[in-house]
Amino acid sequence: MAPSFTSRLFTTAAILYSAFHASAAPSTRQVLETSHGILSAPSSGVVVSQGSSFPFEFQDSNWCEDGYSSISVWLTNYAPTYLNVNSTGQFSEGEYSYYFGSYLIPNFGLPVLSGSTPPPSSLPLPGLNLSTGDEVYLAVVETGTSCPPGLHIPPQYELTETSIIVG
Ligand SMILES: *[C@@H]1O[C@H](CO)[C@@H](O)[C@H](O)[C@H]1NC(C)=O
Ligand SMILES: *[C@@H]1O[C@H](CO)[C@@H](O)[C@H](O)[C@H]1NC(C)=O
Repeated sequence: MAPSFTSRLFTTAAILYSAFHASAAPSTRQVLETSHGILSAPSSGVVVSQGSSFPFEFQDSNWCEDGYSSISVWLTNYAPTYLNVNSTGQFSEGEYSYYFGSYLIPNFGLPVLSGSTPPPSSLPLPGLNLSTGDEVYLAVVETGTSCPPGLHIPPQYELTETSIIVG
């Protein structure tokens, strides 16, 4: 089965805390581009039983050319889009089934940053009272920082997702 990924890049409006309170302007998301990372593993539609592990390999897009890219990994029971990612680059309570964790990817051949956790090569599908044949989604949110440089742009988030069938 060909991998099918959905990805969007967006950012929150650059609203300063003080300006927010002065104007009560709602924060908005902005889709900047559609480039995104690649989930090399698991392959789309892979069958995994609860409690078993599946391979995990994410190639970050690193569109901000950061030395290190922060990602967070989530499980949802619906096909997520960038609209499901909240203003801090997370899935809000009730919008996700499981949070695997956040990891730091070294770019440009840099060493693993001391005190950080690089992405693991496999992740466990937790027991979530799912039924055989249920489709769940693995969602990776990548954060880009400070790009374009010098403009004090807030963090920008990008979503890559793929499906897993509960075996
Ligand atoms: C974003 O999601 C996180 C994690 O679920 C949550 O703690 C936070 O309150 C959410 N933020 C907003 C603005 O909804
Ligand atoms: C587990 O799923 C079954 C079938 O969907 C449901 O009846 C049951 O209430 C669920 N249990 C929990 C603890 O969510």
